[in-house]
Amino acid sequence: MELKEHFSDKIFNLISETADELGLECYVVGGYVRDFFLKRPSKDIDVVVVGSGIEIAKALGKKLGKGANVSVFKNFGTAQVKYKELEVEFVGARKESYSHNSRKPIVEDGTLEDDQNRRDFTINAMAVCLNRERFGELVDPFNGMADLEDKIIRTPLNPDITFSDDPLRMMRCIRFATQLNFYIEDETFDALERNKERINIISKERIADELNKILLSPIPSKGFVDLDRCGLLQLIFPELCALQGVETRNGRAHKDNFYHTLEVVDNIAKVTDNLWLRWATLLHDIGKPKTKRWEPKAGWTFKNHNYIGEKMIPDIFRKMKLPMNEKMKYVQKLVGLHMRPIVIADEEVTDSAVRRLLFEAGDDIDDLMCLCEADITSKNEARKQRFLENFKLVRQKLKDLEEKDRIRNFQPPVDGEEIMRIFNLKPCREIGDLKSSIKDAILDGIIPNEHETAYKYMLEKAKEMGLEPINL
Ligand code: CTP
Repeated sequence: MELKEHFSDKIFNLISETADELGLECYVVGGYVRDFFLKRPSKDIDVVVVGSGIEIAKALGKKLGKGANVSVFKNFGTAQVKYKELEVEFVGARKESYSHNSRKPIVEDGTLEDDQNRRDFTINAMAVCLNRERFGELVDPFNGMADLEDKIIRTPLNPDITFSDDPLRMMRCIRFATQLNFYIEDETFDALERNKERINIISKERIADELNKILLSPIPSKGFVDLDRCGLLQLIFPELCALQGVETRNGRAHKDNFYHTLEVVDNIAKVTDNLWLRWATLLHDIGKPKTKRWEPKAGWTFKNHNYIGEKMIPDIFRKMKLPMNEKMKYVQKLVGLHMRPIVIADEEVTDSAVRRLLFEAGDDIDDLMCLCEADITSKNEARKQRFLENFKLVRQKLKDLEEKDRIRNFQPPVDGEEIMRIFNLKPCREIGDLKSSIKDAILDGIIPNEHETAYKYMLEKAKEMGLEPINL
């Protein structure tokens, strides 16, 4: 669709009319314009007004009538109009200068050019005029259009100034390059290296937002490699950097766990958009540096790295201001369990092992299997095929056993209350022991998951423990 045609939508025509009535110059700017050319859907519209953004927003609100909702942010000199699913943000054109210690700029009124100068990237600095006489005219002083076509991320001004003004832009730079699969222009990239320490004034939440967007990109590894190359990764995520490196002893080398992890993350990105499954994948081997040992017979080992990794996660989430809730628990669980399907697939796939896995993973079993399949990055095709074949077997067994035994959301067929009643017991250790033995018997396939058999089995076990039922 042509630019002019697209902007002839009802809302843009009304903004145009309102701006002309008030005698104000106004432009759609930033992400909306970029996304129009990239054919990406975008609901948030930013409009720059040379003059008061608030005035025009109020007038537009009146024109739109009942369905519109206008909010004014006097302190920022901005106003927002919500109409149907659209959100239009009005802001007066600004000229900004920044102090060294804060992202908060000193703001003055400015021209459109001033406003474009202070934006982060050339592709984000394009404006489309809405005034009737110049309706649909693209104002692109930094050749953002050419950069969009050539797939280049570049700052409009000297990148040292752009990044130093607002260091979050360093994360945005790598995030856009990853999301859009663009190349970061060399001068811009060099400035990332020079200004990396400035990231320290940015809040952890904002950094996490950008990391999430990188992780949700089609090929997340690109972003992590760029973060690493410019030195930002060491500052924002040292635990991930620690996975790097290869050590060789007696001619035996282990793999570089950083690049292995990134390969696994790219694999998982092909099968799921679940952010937390992607996080679990990024962190699945995070315990490896702490557990690395050289054992003369076995070579390099990383014993229990899954459990150590699981334990490291709360600290990492706290530090990075990621949510300390059930999302974190889910990530911990998958990291803790990620070796299990591999071990099962490496040996004989027994019912008992699969039932136990199903019991521990519960409803997250499918996600765990996806993670484990993504984790097979062996260059030895025959080995890779053998694992994948065995995983198919594990998946089939999971399905069969789930239909038969309903282990996924396991509820003990005989519960503690019932045991207390039968033996007239107060809460005590024996109850737990009996419950565990029933659970184990079911998971080992000794008895089916049903009340009657479990009840009989429990009576036998109780007898062995010297317990007598009170009134049989
Ligand atoms: N902008 C900037 N520096 C920032 C953030 C934003 O210069 N640190 C400018 C850019 O021109 C950007 C516009 O403000 O296009 C809108 O910012 P925002 O809505 O945060 O991002 P978008 O570019 O729309 O992209 P996304 O929604 O993917 O973040």
